[in-house]
Amino acid sequence: MASFVSTLLFLLLAVGGIKPAVNQPTEPMCFDWGESSDQGVSVLEGEVGWLSCPLFSHPSVYNYSSTQSTGHNLFWYRLPEGHDLEQPLTYSSRISRDGVRLWLQPSSAADTGLYICMLRNKTSCSKMAMRLSVLRPSKVLRANDCDPPVAWESTRQVIPFQKGGTMDCPDLKEAGKMADNNTTVTVTWYNKCKRPPFVGGNRQLRGVSLRVHIMLGSYEGLYFCTVSYQRRGRPLNFTRSINLSAVNPPGLPKIPTILNPAKEQIFTVKQDSEVRLVCKALLPYLEDTPWDLWWTVDGKTLDKLPDRFSKTNRLLSDDHGDRTEESVLLIQDFSSEDLNREFNCSVKNEEGVQTRRAALQLEVWVPSVELGVGLGATLVLMLLLFIIYHVFWLELLLLYRSWFGTDERHTDDKEYDLYISYARGSEEELFVLSTLRSVLENELGYSVCIFDRDSLPGGTITDETLSFVSRSRRLLVVLGPGYASRGSQALLELQVGLDSMARGGQLRVILVQYQPGGGWGLVRELRSARVVLALVRWQGDKSRDLTSRFWKRLRVELPVRRGGGRGEEGGKGLRLQSQNSTNSQTGLITNSIKHPQKVFQAAA
Ligand SMILES: *[C@@H]1O[C@H](CO)[C@@H](O)[C@H](O)[C@H]1NC(C)=O
Ligand SMILES: *[C@@H]1O[C@H](CO)[C@@H](O)[C@H](O)[C@H]1NC(C)=O
Ligand SMILES: *[C@@H]1O[C@H](CO)[C@@H](O)[C@H](O)[C@H]1NC(C)=O
Ligand SMILES: *[C@@H]1O[C@H](CO)[C@@H](O)[C@H](O)[C@H]1NC(C)=O
Ligand SMILES: *[C@@H]1O[C@H](CO)[C@@H](O)[C@H](O)[C@H]1NC(C)=O
Ligand SMILES: *[C@@H]1O[C@H](CO)[C@@H](O)[C@H](O)[C@H]1NC(C)=O
Ligand SMILES: *[C@@H]1O[C@H](CO)[C@@H](O)[C@H](O)[C@H]1NC(C)=O
Repeated sequence: MASFVSTLLFLLLAVGGIKPAVNQPTEPMCFDWGESSDQGVSVLEGEVGWLSCPLFSHPSVYNYSSTQSTGHNLFWYRLPEGHDLEQPLTYSSRISRDGVRLWLQPSSAADTGLYICMLRNKTSCSKMAMRLSVLRPSKVLRANDCDPPVAWESTRQVIPFQKGGTMDCPDLKEAGKMADNNTTVTVTWYNKCKRPPFVGGNRQLRGVSLRVHIMLGSYEGLYFCTVSYQRRGRPLNFTRSINLSAVNPPGLPKIPTILNPAKEQIFTVKQDSEVRLVCKALLPYLEDTPWDLWWTVDGKTLDKLPDRFSKTNRLLSDDHGDRTEESVLLIQDFSSEDLNREFNCSVKNEEGVQTRRAALQLEVWVPSVELGVGLGATLVLMLLLFIIYHVFWLELLLLYRSWFGTDERHTDDKEYDLYISYARGSEEELFVLSTLRSVLENELGYSVCIFDRDSLPGGTITDETLSFVSRSRRLLVVLGPGYASRGSQALLELQVGLDSMARGGQLRVILVQYQPGGGWGLVRELRSARVVLALVRWQGDKSRDLTSRFWKRLRVELPVRRGGGRGEEGGKGLRLQSQNSTNSQTGLITNSIKHPQKVFQAAA
């Protein structure tokens, strides 16, 4: 007898050992699906909200009507924030059950937490959890302060341009089921902080709906609707939003088109690398009808091809429902055999299909980097030369002359290097006698003829002037405001000089402008000759330094004088002391270059 009992006990234990998950003898083990992968539900504090048992979001697995027929009951539990023990819900007029739903009429901040719905009959049980967040209205992000706070994402609605459409507040039917029988459900609409009637009369209330008679672009945007009702005498409400957009109306061509690859487009590909082929297509708006954008390789879709072929699709733009979609075909380790494959991109909607082949071409190796560097270096060099020439052309000219210029003293029999003409008794006289003369004679080593100093008393002025000018290599005309009016002697000198130059006598006239706008326009003789004459401008203190532009320009115009050695004439900061200048350069070439500056400019 005892052995029988122990055997029975053993059997019981063994059976128990096979089913260790059974908590209580009367209750089956509950299959836990965990927390729903959905985002959960958000409700505004004080508004109506509801939870739907997530088990039934997959009707092929759990179907409410069929579970009722197999004797299942639905239970709700709650895991408040910060607790780890689930508690059965206590129902009230505020928290109630209706089919698969749990209602909060209204919600309160303390309702936040994890909710578990359990489906159970005598032999089977399963459960699933979902999250509820009750948001404070002040914490909800809003585009405008006057917009009502909304806990839900906005519903999208489209109305074609120039067509009509009706907006209904989402979830309005749910309120109708809950409201007291002898009460009405009301809806309040808002758009851009305004309530109906809207300006223009194109958008009107129709009962609880908002009717748009003719859709315009300015009607696009967010609309808010608050549904209010009474339950057991208690006023309740919830708010939703609708994002209204205009779409291109029907009647326009709706056949999809491939924008890329374009008709004659050729993709350049590299062997043994990753190749990306981009296909872009325009899909005109066609309500919510199906469409597709896909690649085929030799007529096969990608799912029938090795893994090294893959694609990614994305929306590039949405212009009032006309979508530009992109599909990128990615080919790993592109081989030479792939080059012969047929890569086709196709797009399809309800109205038509288009296919285009992507033409491929192997990339020809170009020494692009080397070429680029070489080209860049050449450009930089050219730019450098250009800058050097423009900034230092005077220096370059002087340097050139010091090497190749001819000393005119060896080729003519003139006595003076230059004759200075100026208006006597004028402002510039001091400049001529103190600055110009002393620098030219003492610093630069020129022999200077100044009529008033070098003429002998008693001679005829005209004859002497003629004689002096003809014995000079250059005539330096210092122009000041008084030149035309005061300088009869100066004008004579100028006349003689210009005549001599015109006759081809070895004399050149150089103009030195002592003051800006210094009156040479008034000198009739100069107007016609100005173009062929060199003009050097004195720029006040700026020109005092021997290295300034003024002196360099002047030296270019004056006969060649060599200083202490070769090349020094072009040097900066050089003080030329060359009374006893030596000259060894009397080559034939240099003889022919009378006007080095002109030669230089012609070369540029
Ligand atoms: C649920 O079950 C009922 C009867 O068992 C069936 O008529 C209904 O089509 C089912 N619903 C879904 C969504 O499968
Ligand atoms: C409980 O439900 C299962 C299906 O989930 C069913 O097979 C079983 O017959 C039900 N048990 C009872 C006692 O109705
Ligand atoms: C409302 O009326 C329906 C029948 O028309 C009734 O079944 C329901 O119980 C009523 N509800 C309330 C809250 O009175
Ligand atoms: C609804 O009807 C009930 C009786 O049928 C009444 O007591 C209640 O005041 C009514 N509510 C409204 C809002 O008329
Ligand atoms: C919604 O109900 C709450 C609480 O009763 C109330 O404070 C709020 O003003 C109502 N909102 C609207 C738009 O009626
Ligand atoms: C409304 O929809 C349009 C596109 O249809 C989108 O660009 C816009 O961001 C949406 N606005 C909001 C507030 O969701
Ligand atoms: C690929 O597209 C071209 C037109 O671009 C077409 O002629 C060819 O038949 C297509 N190949 C396949 C396999 O669909």
